[in-house]
Amino acid sequence: MSKAPKPVFVCQECGSQSSKWLGRCPDCNAWNSFVEERPVEAVAGAGLAAGGHRYSLPGAAGGAKKYADVESSHTARLTTAIDEFDRVLGGGIVPGSLVLLGGEPGIGKSTLLLQAAANFARLHGPVLYASGEESEHQIKLRGERLGVGDAPLYLLAETCVERILEEIGRVRPRLLVVDSIQTVFSLKFQSAPGSIGQVREAATQFLFAAKGHDLPTFLVGHVTKDGALAGPKVLEHVVDTVLYFEGERHHAHRVVRAIKNRFGAVSELGVFEMTGGGLRPVPNPSQLFLAERPTATPGSAVLCCVEGSRPLLVEVQALVSTATYGTARRMAIGIDAGRVSLLLAVLEKRAGLVLVGEDVYVNIAGGMSLDEPAADLAVLAALASSVRNRPLAPGTAVFGEVGLGGEVRGVPQAPLRLREARQLGFTRVVLPAANLDDESRKSADEAGATLVGVRHVGEALDVLL
Ligand code: TYD
Ligand code: MG
Repeated sequence: MSKAPKPVFVCQECGSQSSKWLGRCPDCNAWNSFVEERPVEAVAGAGLAAGGHRYSLPGAAGGAKKYADVESSHTARLTTAIDEFDRVLGGGIVPGSLVLLGGEPGIGKSTLLLQAAANFARLHGPVLYASGEESEHQIKLRGERLGVGDAPLYLLAETCVERILEEIGRVRPRLLVVDSIQTVFSLKFQSAPGSIGQVREAATQFLFAAKGHDLPTFLVGHVTKDGALAGPKVLEHVVDTVLYFEGERHHAHRVVRAIKNRFGAVSELGVFEMTGGGLRPVPNPSQLFLAERPTATPGSAVLCCVEGSRPLLVEVQALVSTATYGTARRMAIGIDAGRVSLLLAVLEKRAGLVLVGEDVYVNIAGGMSLDEPAADLAVLAALASSVRNRPLAPGTAVFGEVGLGGEVRGVPQAPLRLREARQLGFTRVVLPAANLDDESRKSADEAGATLVGVRHVGEALDVLL
């Protein structure tokens, strides 16, 4: 009854499938992205229909269970002894979890995972580090710089998924690292490693292994030219946690951010510094981001933002200068350019600043990127300060969302932001009037800091400049 499997064409950008080749993907509009993928015949009755859903674990058979009968297990999280890494994971590694770590080449994915793997091996037992990118010798060289020492760490230079799974049976590791998911291939699939079909197949097999053996697994993922994870949709759905390495190669510091986490808060941050001896956690990143801040310079404002559960102080810089050619340039780094345009319009209409024919540049210092609306007031303050060429009062920090009417709106987690500002020695905080409640007053009183609540951008600029 078995028929030869039909070939399918799969878009390598978004994973969309078609029975014939198409020049342009109807889903994501990418050109020339369809590649033929030929699944190997399904094994009858094994629940492994190629291309279908295969979320049944061999050996884990059993019917549906009543909710009340399911044991609630509070399994302890396994620490990696790297505080910043445990924090992004939501407090350590959850047994049986599948974690994807994405990032640009050379940003430090292998370095971080080798460090974490070595610590883990020392604390909890053997770790299998499978690399399709580097030989055992190369990994060893790196390990020597990182001080891996005699931890029970097993290295395997291998790209075949089935072989890696075999080694799991032999080594019986407590943790598996696969570097990277784009270099491995499954014998069940005939397309090249890195193609959507292979990535999906390999990730699914590692998912089974992770859940079936309660084996926490880290997959390294590469990113495409435009910064998205290769095979993004496919991978993000399969894994429990997606971590993303941010930062510029020209800066020493790196930020690991949780984009999705079934076991913790999203947009949780871990901050690291790349040193000669690997990645070093930075326990107080606000200090790092504010280290080279110019004081008494127009166009600079300090923002109290919150990433995940962590408050952070960052410097927002703005430069407004007369345009020399035709249309004025508007540029934003580390913050959405659309948001900046919106705030410029608010400044013109609601605060009476004239910005026609001015070039506007906004930058978040230190390579950070923000997407919180609470950054609005700080961006406005930096812009207005640059336009008027007057610095903000020293020792002042700002946060608040700004609406199109020029109103300043309250934001969540104000006390957390205030505490961080106080710890870094800021004596005055300009914030939305709506956030002036007892709790924030109390935390400001303790620190001897002044709080200035504002309702409108005009009012805010009067207070700030
Ligand atoms: P790597 O972990 O190989 O990046 P990825 O796996 O994300 O491609 O990191 C490589 C960079 O880090 C490389 O440019 C060298 C640098 N590095 C250090 O500065 N110090 C170190 O101790 C190590 C191991 C690497
Ligand atoms: Mg690497």
